[in-house]
Amino acid sequence: MVKLDFDLERDVPELTDKVILITGGTHGLGAATAKMIANRNATKIFITGRNEHAAQQVIADIKATVSNTEVNWIRCDHADLASVKTAAIEVSKEPRLDVLIANAGIMALPPVLLLATTNAGPHKGLTKDGYELHFGINHLAHALIIRTLLPLLQKTARQHGEARIIPISSLALVLAPRGHGIVFKDLKTTQAYWLLGKWQRYAQSKLANLIYGRELARRYPEILTLIADPGPSNTGLVSSLGFLDKAIVYLGNINRFLDDDQGHWNQVWTVGVPKAQAQQGELYEPVGRLSNGYTHWCLDENLAARLWDWTEEELKPWLA
Ligand SMILES: NC(=O)c1ccc[n+]([C@@H]2O[C@H](COP(=O)([O-])OP(=O)(O)OC[C@H]3O[C@@H](n4cnc5c(N)ncnc54)[C@H](OP(=O)(O)O)[C@@H]3O)[C@@H](O)[C@H]2O)c1
Repeated sequence: MVKLDFDLERDVPELTDKVILITGGTHGLGAATAKMIANRNATKIFITGRNEHAAQQVIADIKATVSNTEVNWIRCDHADLASVKTAAIEVSKEPRLDVLIANAGIMALPPVLLLATTNAGPHKGLTKDGYELHFGINHLAHALIIRTLLPLLQKTARQHGEARIIPISSLALVLAPRGHGIVFKDLKTTQAYWLLGKWQRYAQSKLANLIYGRELARRYPEILTLIADPGPSNTGLVSSLGFLDKAIVYLGNINRFLDDDQGHWNQVWTVGVPKAQAQQGELYEPVGRLSNGYTHWCLDENLAARLWDWTEEELKPWLA
């Protein structure tokens, strides 16, 4: 196990008055982040996801502590942009939004799964709007949430001194397709043709999370964007994998695996790090360790600009 240096009370100041949105806050790292942040008394936390029962459990767990934080669940299905837009509009009614943690995600799902239920449910490899499942859920849905909430984040930064976006990426991005990084021409197919298939589709989406975050940082310097790699830990994302895929995760992360209660530390750290000590648009490894990115794609400004333009084009109908 890795030894990490993180202390909530030392590293995260009281979050009084702050409003925080955590996508995918019903399970895993998002739920753990919500519970930890509530200990620093944020005024309000929104968690999103599809599973109401799990959301109510997170809310009950927080209510059972001494925290004064109000926690609300908003139903949101990232595989359906209409649902994503409705959820983002709900948050946009708040007078402020201090932190947006873009955390929800799926990993290494087969291109078509009609019978079994995974964390994406039975699916045909495409989102309702026709995008490859990982790219649609992990990247495009988050881009719609971020773009819808940018005016509120900008207003918050103007009125209260700062606002943050924290996209969650992963070292797994090193598996993104060689020679491309992102295969734009096939993002509206199941992309069921690569050797490592489901891992490359996940990697492509996690690369998108990182470079879209870098582009946000360049375009909106008034908002602090810090990209977090949580590091590997045993959430539902990992435990729901089959034997071979679990072996890939465990063997690929020997000496990196975190304790079950540490996986969310890095993203909580990015919420608390003083703005003056944080580097805009940079990637942080656990905990609070500045990373130079894992492959040349991470620093490729042309690829980031192309992703930005592609995303804007796809979201046009939703942003009009
Ligand atoms: N765990 C790791 O080792 C690890 C390592 C590196 C990066 N990460 C990243 O960390 C983030 C969180 O992962 P985790 O480990 O906490 O996974 P998890 O335990 O499986 O939780 C995933 C969360 O995402 C939500 N989600 C999944 N599909 C969704 C959809 N279609 N619409 C809306 N919400 C959806 C789930 O909510 P509902 O089920 O309620 O919809 C759940 O709250 C992901 O972005 C992942 O890529 C994880």
